[in-house]
Amino acid sequence: MSSEPLVLGIETSCDETGVALVRGRELLGQAVASSVEEHARFGGVVPEVASRAHLEAMLPTLRRALDDAGAGLPEVDVVAVTAGPGLAGALMVGVAAAKALALALDVPLYGVNHLDAHVAVALLTGGPLPDPALALLVSGGHTELLLVRDGARDVTVLGQTLDDAAGEAFDKVARLLGLPYPGGPHLQRAAEGGDAGAVRFPRGLTAAHDLRRHPHDFSFSGLKTAVARHVQAVERAGGEVAVPDVAASFQESVADVLSAKTVAATREHGVTTVLLGGGVAANSRVRSLLTQRCEAAGLELRVPPVSLCTDNGAMVAALAAQVLRDGGVPSGLDLGADPGLPAGTVHVPAAR
Ligand code: KG4
Ligand code: ZN
Repeated sequence: MSSEPLVLGIETSCDETGVALVRGRELLGQAVASSVEEHARFGGVVPEVASRAHLEAMLPTLRRALDDAGAGLPEVDVVAVTAGPGLAGALMVGVAAAKALALALDVPLYGVNHLDAHVAVALLTGGPLPDPALALLVSGGHTELLLVRDGARDVTVLGQTLDDAAGEAFDKVARLLGLPYPGGPHLQRAAEGGDAGAVRFPRGLTAAHDLRRHPHDFSFSGLKTAVARHVQAVERAGGEVAVPDVAASFQESVADVLSAKTVAATREHGVTTVLLGGGVAANSRVRSLLTQRCEAAGLELRVPPVSLCTDNGAMVAALAAQVLRDGGVPSGLDLGADPGLPAGTVHVPAAR
């Protein structure tokens, strides 16, 4: 194991600056800086603010990750970075930093895919992935059902959100209910004393005709609108919105749709293992309903610790370490940030 190269992973696709050191399947150290508080007053991630925050956080976060791993820069054998998908300006900061480090250290550079990296992080905690597996990624930026074959080497998008991401829906509904940003954790707390059956909110893309066209896709904007209408109707009638009940009922709709569609996709594709990732994986109701339905369907559910579910450098290094084991060709120093990099492109090899 110790003969495997020391990989430095850098992640800057959204609002977290992540740096980590991985050797093989072992996470040696990591650090994450988040600009989430700087976006709070805007109620969502502002790309220019995120880019500047990455620039300011890059060197201190690199230093913290190296200290955490007890390693020095000269020991780094490979530099890996998220090449996409993500916010263009934010990605560019990470790619530029990774190129500078690779050049200065005279080591190979690997540009990897952010979505595939979310899947590959499971290698650090649960060992090799069964083939095939299904990954449900739910965060402020994405909601995807991915079919994962050959241990994260081959990733296909089965479905994704047609509008808002699941975390984005939490954030927007929290705002409607007067809760702070980021809304997910606040909404979950508000829901604790609520009745999840109080309001029957819609379950996006689950009607028979929607399922025919979009079996594995998601939609949360209708749910958000339904919550807004409910709030307006109560207020217009001079009543007071029962925040815990509305929060719990909204959360129930999201957890219900995510878990039902995940289990249905496993059946269709003969999968027995489900991976959960993304910031919304921290939601206790999403976890409990998914756990319950996976158990009932005889499925194994793998959920990495929350610190590895949200954006981080370890997932980038974990995927690059796997690409290295497979003899993948490094990226060139002309590697560019690709905001629309498709999940099928696990890494970006240099043009020959
Ligand atoms: O993966 P992540 O940290 O960042 C990106 O989106 O890239 O995910 C953040 C999202 C936010 O939308 C936040 O509201 C949501 O994850 N989130 C939650 C919870 N904790 C974080 N949503 C629901 N329940 C939670 N406990
Ligand atoms: Zn992500």
